[in-house]
Amino acid sequence: MTAKAGIILAAGQGTRMKSAKPKVMHEVAHLPMLGHVIAAMRGAGIERIVVVTAPQMEDVRALAAHFGAETAIQDKQLGTGHAAASAKSALGDFTGAVLINNGDMPLARADMMRESLDSAAKSGLSVVAFRPQDPAHYGRVILDKDGLLDRIVEYKDASAEQRAVDLCCAGTYSAANAAKFFEWAAKLKSDNAQGEYYLPEVPLVAKADGVKSAVTVTDEVTVMGVNSRAELALAEAAMQQRLRAKLLNDGVGMLAPETVFLSHDTVIEADAQIGPYVVFGPGVTVRGGAQIKSHSHLEGAEVGKGALVGPYARLRPGAVLEEDVHIGNFVEVKKARIEKGAKANHLTYIGDARVGAGANIGAGTITCNYDGYDKHFTDIGAGAFIGSDTALVAPVKIGDGVITAAGSVITKDVEANALAVARGEQRQIAGWAAKFRARKAAEKAAKGKK
Ligand code: UD1
Ligand code: MG
Repeated sequence: MTAKAGIILAAGQGTRMKSAKPKVMHEVAHLPMLGHVIAAMRGAGIERIVVVTAPQMEDVRALAAHFGAETAIQDKQLGTGHAAASAKSALGDFTGAVLINNGDMPLARADMMRESLDSAAKSGLSVVAFRPQDPAHYGRVILDKDGLLDRIVEYKDASAEQRAVDLCCAGTYSAANAAKFFEWAAKLKSDNAQGEYYLPEVPLVAKADGVKSAVTVTDEVTVMGVNSRAELALAEAAMQQRLRAKLLNDGVGMLAPETVFLSHDTVIEADAQIGPYVVFGPGVTVRGGAQIKSHSHLEGAEVGKGALVGPYARLRPGAVLEEDVHIGNFVEVKKARIEKGAKANHLTYIGDARVGAGANIGAGTITCNYDGYDKHFTDIGAGAFIGSDTALVAPVKIGDGVITAAGSVITKDVEANALAVARGEQRQIAGWAAKFRARKAAEKAAKGKK
């Protein structure tokens, strides 16, 4: 098998985004666009990946390194062809196949890339094209009478006749031999409407060298380019649709999938049931048979088999719900393990804690975990019954089987199987209420006579 390298063009600031953040760092389904393109390349069997960045883009280089990719610097943003050529500094005399991809294509798929590489293996050079509903500003792909590539014309350089062509340049290109590709890219000229070195013109240079480019056609969604906030929102919508479809196909139940928002890494097992308007942040796993009811928000959390969550629950990073746990409405759990079968059904905050198996947490219970400086741990034993409106002032340890009286403020450890009561004692003054009402009635009557 030929070795394969990938080049990702990411040196453009993305001015149409109107953002201080470089374009490829903007996220789709909680993963920067750059991460999506790198993942697709890996899926296509590409071993070496070089991300081309502008000199000041330290953060993009750090992100690329985080994803295990190499980086190269394009000194000046002289166009996509110039950017691709800049990757030579990293790839040196690599002679395997190379796939070049725009960094602003978050929906790029591995099989689209593989098809492009296979096509280049036969023809020498291959470009990916698509037919968008609105070809707008995309480069136009002009075919010759044999269906091979004649040339690609940028929208700004195209004649009215060329603009009428609906086959567009996707921003993915493959060459069978990286050394040849760099040779061609070095010969690009910038005598065009934008005064830039256009990557889509590499096929013209190759043609002069006797290599006719092939074209593979893919669907619009896979190669949609993100150049503005509006296009970012469209890409997000398309990605959400793709993620939902995959989960449904894997056996996850969803009453209203179009209202469920997923993260690129959301794991939900078959036979879990997700209600309407549930939002998943990054790092969530939901096991089979669990139910996440409507309007819940989860991130960095694990939901065990058969657990019930919501409606209106919030699971924050480090929340681990074991099997058959119930977390009900207006309950927030953060960095806490809720052991098998424990329940917190209403209006509760559990943070920096362990709740033992089978414990019951009454409505209004709060783990007071923060003193303004540090976080402290609350340990609740198995089978404990925490009365409604208990404040557990951490650090504190509640033994197995303990009962706390409703309204208690617990500041000291409680031994197993004890009752802890920590609230003002109730007094009763016989007849006081009736006397109070009589006095008020008399006052009102006196005022009325004046
Ligand atoms: C480009 C193509 C167009 C194609 C479209 C598909 C060119 C000249 N045009 O247009 O034919 O239909 O993509 O989405 O290639 N970049 C650099 N250095 C530069 C300029 C750009 O690294 O000097 C990077 C950008 O960061 C971006 C990618 O190249 O990731 C594409 O640049 P962009 O400005 O988005 O090109 P388009 O106008 O979308
Ligand atoms: Mg673009």
